[in-house]
Amino acid sequence: MTNMEAILVRVSNRKYLDRSLTEDEISQLHKMIAVANQASGLRMQLITDHPEVFSSLRTSYGMFSGVRNMIALVGPGDLPNLKERCGYYGQKVLLGATTLGLGTCWVCGTYDRSKVPCQMQKGDVLCGVIVVGPAAPQPGAKEKLIRGALRRNHKSAAELSRGMGDAPDWFQSGINAVVLAPSAMNRQAYRFIYSNGSVAVQQKEHTTYSDVDLGIAKLQFEIGAHGGTWTWGDGGTFVKAKEEKSCGAVIWRKGERGHEFLLAQHGASHWSFPKGHIEGRETELETAKREILEETGLTVDIDPHFRQVVTYYPKPGVIKDVVFFIAQPTGGTEHAQEEEIRQLGWFSFQDAKPLVTFATDVEVLKEAEAYILGKS
Ligand SMILES: Cc1cc2nc3c(=O)[nH]c(=O)nc-3n(C[C@H](O)[C@H](O)[C@H](O)COP(=O)(O)O)c2cc1C
Repeated sequence: MTNMEAILVRVSNRKYLDRSLTEDEISQLHKMIAVANQASGLRMQLITDHPEVFSSLRTSYGMFSGVRNMIALVGPGDLPNLKERCGYYGQKVLLGATTLGLGTCWVCGTYDRSKVPCQMQKGDVLCGVIVVGPAAPQPGAKEKLIRGALRRNHKSAAELSRGMGDAPDWFQSGINAVVLAPSAMNRQAYRFIYSNGSVAVQQKEHTTYSDVDLGIAKLQFEIGAHGGTWTWGDGGTFVKAKEEKSCGAVIWRKGERGHEFLLAQHGASHWSFPKGHIEGRETELETAKREILEETGLTVDIDPHFRQVVTYYPKPGVIKDVVFFIAQPTGGTEHAQEEEIRQLGWFSFQDAKPLVTFATDVEVLKEAEAYILGKS
């Protein structure tokens, strides 16, 4: 699931299944939180199996059930734009949790903050929590009532923006993602303005959580617009990132060690799958085939029904999509392209997993293995 897909499926969940997070879910959440803390200066913390934070009727009004886990949004009180950072980076982790299939809910008011067992250093502030866990398949009756009441104030794209008529498509896509942004009491008290090629956001009120809402909305806009960089604060401006695209494939065969995957060490650095930039008016499949032949010497049969996109920022101001298909070799002579590939190797699924450098590529490998198992 991409971040944009996570935005589309996310809703606030207040009813959870009474089970702990799995080891894999915990480890993935820890990784996402560590990356966000490193980038932001925050000290967000995952708290597991502490139902008492939501058990008091006085603070939670019985709105939540089955809550055991949460991410405590902690940061140094003197960190500039602390609340906005909590919104922006908290929402980044929340969307990551959504891609893991977990339910989530921002909670800054209706919880017992004195019971949150987080580590606080001198001067730290707890801005709120994000509840996370396996959501109950059907929302409870109370949940439906709360959602109904709050959705009445849900803002439209027109209410949240100015200058749409003159704006490029990415502005419209950004606003569509802002429409779906969670906000305290569903207030969405901000407006995104397009004018002469640039975007700025203005807050319409300053309340306890309006800065958290602003950070969340900026992140959702950035994802909807497909990449860019914001400056902090009310009146912050957005610069759209340049877009790049590469295509490649997870190449596999049946071998002595079960399914074997062809990995390439790109230059002296990372291990991934064969892939490269789109040239001219090539289709994604044409690029994948050409790059695989150039990098590995192999011709392949590509299954286009498996298509996974990994998105990242290779350098400031540039966003890159890498499209991976799945493929099987049909011929050619295997050899690594001298200029770009240091070495090639066939690995079993278990051996390939720890070798692949980026976590996002590991997810693609896992999806590919599941896809192959599902077909055989
Ligand atoms: C900063 C912030 C604080 C929130 N605090 C609470 C809260 O204390 N209790 C609660 O039930 N929901 C809380 N919410 C969830 C909002 O009510 C919810 O996001 C909003 O109604 C929109 O619904 P949706 O998330 O399903 O799109 C909070 C949301 C945000 C962004």
